[in-house]
Amino acid sequence: MSFSLIIPTLNEAENIDPLLSGIFSLDTLGSQFEVIIVDDGSTDGTPDKVRQWQNTHNVRLIERRAQPDLTASILDGTAVARYEVIAVMDADLSHPPDKLAALIQPILDGTHDITIGSRYIAGGNTVGWPFYRLWLSRAGGWLARIICDVNDATSGFFAFRRELIGNITKNARGYKILLELLMTGQGRLRVKEIPISFRDRLHGNSKLSLTHHLVYLLQLITLAGGTVSFHTASRFAIVGFLGVFVDVLIFQWMTGHGASLASAHISSFIAAASFNYTINSKWSFRLHHAGHLHWQQFIRFLTVGVFALLLRGAILAWLVYTWGISAEWAIFPAILTTAMVNYLGSAFYVFPRTEPP
Ligand code: GDD
Repeated sequence: MSFSLIIPTLNEAENIDPLLSGIFSLDTLGSQFEVIIVDDGSTDGTPDKVRQWQNTHNVRLIERRAQPDLTASILDGTAVARYEVIAVMDADLSHPPDKLAALIQPILDGTHDITIGSRYIAGGNTVGWPFYRLWLSRAGGWLARIICDVNDATSGFFAFRRELIGNITKNARGYKILLELLMTGQGRLRVKEIPISFRDRLHGNSKLSLTHHLVYLLQLITLAGGTVSFHTASRFAIVGFLGVFVDVLIFQWMTGHGASLASAHISSFIAAASFNYTINSKWSFRLHHAGHLHWQQFIRFLTVGVFALLLRGAILAWLVYTWGISAEWAIFPAILTTAMVNYLGSAFYVFPRTEPP
């Protein structure tokens, strides 16, 4: 079997010996493979542990000096890999090395493009994780199913043909490089999931943080085609505030000049929506907009606005009449929900991503 096995490490000194012994003692893999350990500045002596294996086994060590990152490490490892088939696994003994052959063979045979060591299909399981970890992982997997038909898209144990990595942007970061890979083929990739028993690490700590979870959510949104980001959200909020002034000014002016309540209400809404659309398309979502105003896009913006308005009324009525909350307080959650719906409608429906993520 000719393949490169990439193992990212961050403070895994205690795991290196049992991991590499486990891999090199397998007789299913033959001798035609290399192990590339990509270390991200471990301070517990991980690189020294790896060096001890370098004279006797086909082990390479890459010591990164950049900002530590799992995806960036795997990209760097792939860039120097000698073989066309790449496998990735964690260093913390969570993934069973004896499943490597089953992962690699379908890629070598050319029957599949990506294989995944899956915890969430028949025969797979997770041992030793606390409930919250399992729940978070399952939730992440279910969300991923919105964009790709895979049971364990957050697995860290997978194999693929090296050329696929060329479709991933060099700036990709975070924990979920597999998700990026799966999305490169836009549903045309042949994917096979192989059941594995994942067990929680015995030594060292997980490096998965809240930031990684948030980055994952943003990554999902981006891959799904949305343009959600702090940049677009903050500008959208500013435009929303300005739009309220436009709305109120026109409403006051019209009612002050004898217009009926209905015509003042509708006119001020359309004027504010036009104002918001123009500034959002030229400023907030400028990067995701062709540069000139589109009628179709404007109609979509109005549609989202009307829907949000109806929703606001429904939430208000529900909070006031069903829950007995006073209207002065109920208006706040109603506005908040409407603002979010408006923003997500803009990010996914009015100004979706036009360029590949
Ligand atoms: N080079 C490098 N740089 N390696 C890293 C970094 C980093 O910034 N962060 C973590 N690693 C390495 C760890 O040393 C370990 O070998 C592997 O990546 C997994 O990291 P953990 O932090 O131990 O992940 P986990 O066990 O909690 O997470 C498991 O579940 C995740 C969610 O499903 C793994 O299966 C992950 O692969 C999976 O994404």
